[in-house]
Amino acid sequence: MTEKGGVGRFALDDRVFQLLAGLVEEYSGLRFDVGRRDLFAERIGRRVAALGFPGFLDYYYHLRYDPAGREELQQAVEALAVNETYFFREPGPLETLVRTWIPERHQAPEPFRVWSTACSTGAEPYTLAIVAEEAGLSERVEIWASDIDRGALLEAQEAVYGEGALRMTPADKRARWFERTEGGWRLRSPLRSRVRFFWANALEPDGAAGEGRWHAILCRNLMIYFAEETIARAVEGFHRALRPGGVLLLGLTESLLRFDTPFRVEEVNGWFFYVKDVGTLGRRDGEAGRRPPSHGHRGGGCHGKEDPRARGGRLCVRAQGREPDARGSP
Ligand SMILES: C[S@@+](CC[C@H](N)C(=O)[O-])C[C@H]1O[C@@H](n2cnc3c(N)ncnc32)[C@H](O)[C@@H]1O
Repeated sequence: MTEKGGVGRFALDDRVFQLLAGLVEEYSGLRFDVGRRDLFAERIGRRVAALGFPGFLDYYYHLRYDPAGREELQQAVEALAVNETYFFREPGPLETLVRTWIPERHQAPEPFRVWSTACSTGAEPYTLAIVAEEAGLSERVEIWASDIDRGALLEAQEAVYGEGALRMTPADKRARWFERTEGGWRLRSPLRSRVRFFWANALEPDGAAGEGRWHAILCRNLMIYFAEETIARAVEGFHRALRPGGVLLLGLTESLLRFDTPFRVEEVNGWFFYVKDVGTLGRRDGEAGRRPPSHGHRGGGCHGKEDPRARGGRLCVRAQGREPDARGSP
């Protein structure tokens, strides 16, 4: 096989592709089947070339056996990550979380803590911040956001977006919450400071996954890239990390239908909310949650930028581990 995308000097045969894709999946959950082999070869081929390896097999040996291989595996995942995101993507569940769920179910004086687990360049948690601000609930909602891709997190903190990221943002909201800047539109400052970013692998989130930390977890448009066993593993971790009564929100094309999960599903304003029952801590206690209808749809039918840590910023971008940020860790 010859490669595409200008990296034609290397060949990626089936066996080496399986080995490399297996490492990537084991680390990040991202699954590459043969249909995406060309894309894989193109992106990883760039890393192979940049590091001066004679071919993919030597690169595999480096990832697998070299002490520096772990950091390179992180780089490989960043090269492969699909960071597609935009403001007001699937806004219904976010609006419902802020305008219905929180007022009705969160009477405690403490803030309602939300973790956006695969936030890419930040449009999702910032959208939630906008929605909370417009609902007058900014002070009640604490938003943390993470991603496996350090470059995406740096962009998230810059909060400068092009037309693509704003394509679903109504004109009045754009005028109100964004300002024109060199290179695009910058989210205005009060909102920028409402989201705290940190690095985390959603499969092994360390501190972020401490038992009972979150009132809500967003994991949207990530599990579409996972195999079923990986989804089950991630979901179990999210269940542990939620407080009793806490809620998991998925992307609209994602569903836990075919899984025996510890969550109970509730339709709230027609959206599916996966709820951790009060009284369930840690692993499921044997009681299966009610299963959702067929799909997760509506019911009723980063790189090369300065490291923000250097200026006391909010972002921790260290791979394979987290550091508390300036305002405390999640
Ligand atoms: C398609 S974007 C989704 C962004 C946002 N949640 C949304 O719905 O618009 C998927 C993101 O998942 C991130 N990702 C991939 N594997 C991950 C993992 N194991 N842990 C955390 N983030 C991961 C990618 O870097 C990418 O930014």
